[in-house]
Amino acid sequence: MKKLIEYISNIAKFESALFQNNFSAQSYLHTYYPDKFDINEYLNTSKILYNLFSKSNSLIEINSIKEETNLREEEIENIAILNFLEKVVIYLLGKNKNNFLVLDVGGGPTIYQHIFNSLIAKCIIHTDFLEENRAEVIKWRDTTEGSYSWLSYIDLVKKIMESSNDINLKNYSKNIDTTSLRSRLKRKLKFIKFGDVFDFNLGLDEATINYIKKNKGVDLLTSNFTVESATSSTKRWVEGMINIINFVKVDGYISISAISNAYWYQVGTKKLPAAAITLKDLTQFLKKHNFEIIFHYNLHGSEKEKVGYDGMLFVFARKVK
Ligand SMILES: C[S@@+](CC[C@H](N)C(=O)[O-])C[C@H]1O[C@@H](n2cnc3c(N)ncnc32)[C@H](O)[C@@H]1O
Repeated sequence: MKKLIEYISNIAKFESALFQNNFSAQSYLHTYYPDKFDINEYLNTSKILYNLFSKSNSLIEINSIKEETNLREEEIENIAILNFLEKVVIYLLGKNKNNFLVLDVGGGPTIYQHIFNSLIAKCIIHTDFLEENRAEVIKWRDTTEGSYSWLSYIDLVKKIMESSNDINLKNYSKNIDTTSLRSRLKRKLKFIKFGDVFDFNLGLDEATINYIKKNKGVDLLTSNFTVESATSSTKRWVEGMINIINFVKVDGYISISAISNAYWYQVGTKKLPAAAITLKDLTQFLKKHNFEIIFHYNLHGSEKEKVGYDGMLFVFARKVK
């Protein structure tokens, strides 16, 4: 037992150092999130994916989308991620849920994940392990120039809202333009904090913990490519997952995107470790810990040899007790 604890603690130290030394915010952004794209082409692909994802639990082959568009695999993946976030918000708006306290773990240097959620949030707490990533998000929120441009994503979300068949989303789009959607998100993004998913308190400072406690936990916990992308050990994946779900209040929600079956993924020229998990691992874990799965999707068929993962998993669930 002592040996096992020592072993896990050594992995923890090793992996923390690996992230500190090899994760670069700029390389990550340029690897995965192009800042300019053809909005109309993205919008069309988004419609195709939305319809394919219309069954609650779908498996979609990325190749079938490639045949219908001129987009690259990474671009199709990005649209699928936004599609999932859109469906989460449509579901919550449909249940009249808003004024949510949202906690994002391993939020990285990105803000795309908050655009749809800004519609239902009273406050978004963005957390990440690396100072460089947090600085990138602070720069985007607090300055007007020199930060990564997410304008194309905000514009795309606005266009998705306008053309949505969902009445609530469409209604929202009438009162909002791209500039006000961006300002709204900046306003909601109230806290950008250090966070460590392998700490039972998520490494949060006392004030943040107290704020969350006052709310009886978070209403929505979001985790995009975090716990499985922060360790190579499936044991540590379970530990991290337990830590994050403990923050969700009863009757609150969790929205998770993850890479599947990966031992690594690329950030610029570096390979970072990943824990190889499947959709079954994720859904079974959540069910075992008193979550009801509302929907899940699987985008399958990424070029594993090139990117490290064979697809993406998306799960939205509610904490029942
Ligand atoms: C693949 S990136 C995902 C970033 C972002 N959520 C996205 O959707 O692109 C993994 C993130 O996990 C963060 N991370 C690594 N170890 C972590 C830890 N122990 N606790 C919290 N975040 C961690 C990294 O700093 C990085 O931002």
